[in-house]
Amino acid sequence: MKLVIVLVLLVVGSFVFHWLSPWWFTPLASNWSTVDTTVDITLYITAFVFFAVNIFMAYAIYRYRFNAKRRAHYEPENKKLETWLTVITAIGVAAMLAPGLIVWADFIDVPEDADVVEVVGQQWQWSFRFPGEDGKLGEVDARYIGPENPFGMSPDDPAGSDDVLVSSNELHLPVDRPVKVNMRSKDVLHNFAVPQFRVKMDMVPGLVSYVWFTPTRTGKFDILCMELCGIGHYAMRGSVVVNEEEDFNAWLAQQPTWGQLQGRGPADTVAGKASYAVCGSCHGQSGEGNAAMNAPSLAGQSAWYVERQLNYYRQGIRGAHEKDTYGQQMVGMAQTLPDDAAVRNVSAYIATFTPHKVDSTLDGDPARGKAHYTTCGACHGASAQGNYALQAPRLAGQEDWYLKRQLQNFREGVRGSHEADSYGHQMVLMARSLQNEQSINDLLAYLNTL
Ligand code: CUA
Repeated sequence: MKLVIVLVLLVVGSFVFHWLSPWWFTPLASNWSTVDTTVDITLYITAFVFFAVNIFMAYAIYRYRFNAKRRAHYEPENKKLETWLTVITAIGVAAMLAPGLIVWADFIDVPEDADVVEVVGQQWQWSFRFPGEDGKLGEVDARYIGPENPFGMSPDDPAGSDDVLVSSNELHLPVDRPVKVNMRSKDVLHNFAVPQFRVKMDMVPGLVSYVWFTPTRTGKFDILCMELCGIGHYAMRGSVVVNEEEDFNAWLAQQPTWGQLQGRGPADTVAGKASYAVCGSCHGQSGEGNAAMNAPSLAGQSAWYVERQLNYYRQGIRGAHEKDTYGQQMVGMAQTLPDDAAVRNVSAYIATFTPHKVDSTLDGDPARGKAHYTTCGACHGASAQGNYALQAPRLAGQEDWYLKRQLQNFREGVRGSHEADSYGHQMVLMARSLQNEQSINDLLAYLNTL
């Protein structure tokens, strides 16, 4: 009898939980209402079967419970019952599979007039490419990827010249226009998913996968990576902003084309040196850093990293936090650089400095620090040399007091909490894995040995 009660409670509880729980689809923002319908059909069928089987079981247990005066029949075969059950099960399974096949046929059948956009995944960032005026995406190859060409654009394909390159985690799309999203990955398996659009697709290195959809309302929607792709997987987030056509066009016009980026030519280190004179008054004329001025060493840093940080300062992404006193100084300094070209030139000049050995100012245990560094080394490199592919800067040769302050800033959200600072988000999460100040000191003591 107890079992009967448990079974009935299980069934009733499941239904009540389903009706009362707040967890259900996020409101739809694309044309794919049929995906929801398919899920609904599956849910109705499985709910009916769940109800019928469990209630029948409860009934059978109650009705045929032990009775010393009764004896059971032995009936190993029943053709009629088996035929009956097979037919009903077959209908149920077909009813669950068929709608999915019908929707899938639509899902892979891209409308003729769909716009095209490319999503590029890498550990642990998103970037995007539009085909430009010719409507054609230029050829790409992983062999061409580098700091000056993060998309791997082929230098020989003229169709790539007007391609619009979006090096940020935020994609904009116009509302009510069908779009085909081509996907590629630079490194490992990722998965592009936007829950409100009901789309989700693996991104496989070496091949181009796709989905299509029509955004049906304006707003901002999350892009999630839904494939475990390494230690930063959980921080691999982006967003799709669906705009009215006009706002979308205005946004798109602000993004650089590959032709424009190429037209810049190599960075001018002579001009960079002239701009650096101001920086040198704190950071030292050869970027050696100055603890008295709270200015970290710059020697050894790559141009791509310095350029990104300078742009973050200029755009208010770094140094905007009220508690980031030194960052605020840098905001002012970075703004003395008049334009992108000046930022690029000074970054290229800084990259010419020779890294040097630094003195340790902290008391830590390098042996314990080495264990902490294993996680850091996955991105920053085993000898802390930095890694462009993961956008991880060099740490070797950096002053420990500076790194300590940055780790503390990350932990407290003083650095890395700006919405647009996706690399910073990763560091916030990483820095919080260090338990206390001693762990930080140990870690930095180990870094000083590299
Ligand atoms: Cu990319 Cu998970």
